[in-house]
Amino acid sequence: MKAVVCTRYGAPEVLKLQQVAMPEPGPGEIRVKVMTTTVTVADFRVRSMTVPKPFGLVMRFVLGFRKPRNPILGMEIAGVVDQVGAQVTRFKVGDKVMGPTLKGFGGYAAYRVFKSTDPLVHLPTNYSFRQGAALPVGARTALHYLQKVELKKGEHILVYGASGSVGTYTVQLAKHLGAEVTAVCSGKNAEWVKALGADRVLDYTAPRFEEQLRTYDVLFIAVDQWPEAACLPYLKKGGRYTNITRMFIAPRWAWKARKAGQKMVLAGSPPETLAFMEEVKALAEKGVFRPVLDCDYPLEDIRKAHHHVDQGHKKGNVTITVHPETLL
Ligand SMILES: NC(=O)c1ccc[n+]([C@@H]2O[C@H](COP(=O)([O-])OP(=O)(O)OC[C@H]3O[C@@H](n4cnc5c(N)ncnc54)[C@H](OP(=O)(O)O)[C@@H]3O)[C@@H](O)[C@H]2O)c1
Repeated sequence: MKAVVCTRYGAPEVLKLQQVAMPEPGPGEIRVKVMTTTVTVADFRVRSMTVPKPFGLVMRFVLGFRKPRNPILGMEIAGVVDQVGAQVTRFKVGDKVMGPTLKGFGGYAAYRVFKSTDPLVHLPTNYSFRQGAALPVGARTALHYLQKVELKKGEHILVYGASGSVGTYTVQLAKHLGAEVTAVCSGKNAEWVKALGADRVLDYTAPRFEEQLRTYDVLFIAVDQWPEAACLPYLKKGGRYTNITRMFIAPRWAWKARKAGQKMVLAGSPPETLAFMEEVKALAEKGVFRPVLDCDYPLEDIRKAHHHVDQGHKKGNVTITVHPETLL
């Protein structure tokens, strides 16, 4: 079968379209024909080994020294079940499914085998394969961190990086939870981000951006371009701050926050469980999550797609069509 293999860490050119062995499902497993996958920031980080300096060596231990041990990247998929192993009752051939593949990767391939207990769920009936593939990583991240900061009805949240994958889902979910939402993105994206439900949209490139800020119950930092010194003055006493890209914060900020009764939620791993994915799916079926789709590329153009994501300015989600012939 065709697959894109990451031959070493580096620029998008390290990705090579190759023929690899077709995976066969064993007992308790299913095989999915991958219709659509995506290029997430996680794909960019693994491919280029772009991680905060102190973690470089640790990440190479975890992922592989010169190249990823699991060389087929791709962190989320939507597709069709094409084979079902013995003892599987949750799926049948022909079922449309979606799910994250952060554990083990493997989305950039024509087929992928899953355990029937993996966090794979049926595609919502109102969803296309593109929408289904674009949902798992961004939406579950938004849900996880909004749960962690315990956002309540009537509270005021500021979402920084509102036009990215996590940011777009966070704006939608925060609005659904009854919060007043201020979204921050560049002016060119302001109109469609407002249409996602934001009450106010602020342009971080505007000359007097800071003057338009108020104080907020929750600061949700989805894109790590707003240092603590600049943003924490806008967090209310007793407020919550989350930065989904940072595992550590300087002790002086942690100490100041503690004194002000503020809670800091730093990056961890949202649960990659079936129960959590079912929660995400339920919100998708209700229409709370509406995936924002940027460009779509065929698998053959995966390098172009990675170059696009490497720029750091995608709008929502960049998708990859793996089987264009089946969609016709
Ligand atoms: N902890 C976790 O579990 C977890 C899970 C998923 C993702 N993440 C991390 O979360 C981050 C966001 O992921 P994502 O997929 O949402 O990102 P993304 O889609 O790549 O974000 C791109 C967005 O960032 C905005 N942006 C770029 N420079 C900016 C700046 N200086 N100020 C404000 N906005 C700026 C861009 O908006 P403009 O084009 O308008 O500038 C663009 O829409 C990544 O670092 C990823 O690794 C963490």
